[in-house]
Amino acid sequence: MTRFKAVIFDLDGVITDTARFHYLAWKRLADAEGAPFDEAFNEQLKGVDRMGSLELILARAPRSYTSAQKLVLADAKNRHYQELVATMGPDDLLPGALRALQEVRGAGLKIGLASVSKNAFTVLDRLGIRDRFDDVVDAAAIANSKPHPEIFLTAASHLGVDPADCLGVEDAAAGVASIKDAGMVAVGVGDPAVLARADYIIPSMQRFRLADYG
Ligand code: G6P
Ligand code: MG
Repeated sequence: MTRFKAVIFDLDGVITDTARFHYLAWKRLADAEGAPFDEAFNEQLKGVDRMGSLELILARAPRSYTSAQKLVLADAKNRHYQELVATMGPDDLLPGALRALQEVRGAGLKIGLASVSKNAFTVLDRLGIRDRFDDVVDAAAIANSKPHPEIFLTAASHLGVDPADCLGVEDAAAGVASIKDAGMVAVGVGDPAVLARADYIIPSMQRFRLADYG
């Protein structure tokens, strides 16, 4: 039925719509700093860690910043993001996400989560789904953010599965690059123009079907 032994999911934008919350929090910061910010630019931030995202935003601002100022801004963004996350509950799983987790589990595969977010466990707990994953790799467990393959390789290693036997699921270009450079098969969720390196592209998790992926 499937040749894979594990499926490793991204969190923000795949399991739940926290990608929207990251966007809103970065947008408020960018507007306050006079840095141009729109949905197209935001695509470059998806899957990129907090300080890396901030650097990309501030590179477009009219002034420069000290390291201390950058930390203050990153902290303010995170507090705004956490306020938005605090409103979440089990109803905030993206349509199709729970069904996908159930399908993968039902097929006897391992389930991993690979998120460069420092808030990944908080989000999983708000959704009430932490125990659905055999392994969670978050920012604390890795040195390199996506698009580096470290996070997906670490997840495969923790699961005891060869990367070639893993399917990765991502909504970000950086995430798809991470999956592909880890030697895995990639399912992209979203815009084909953004996710061109993915082996398969679905418009939403409602279309996730394990049997479609070889
Ligand atoms: C995910 C999101 C990014 C976010 C990053 C860090 O990868 O796609 O948009 O910047 O996590 O999240 P954090 O919660 O640590 O600020
Ligand atoms: Mg994502």
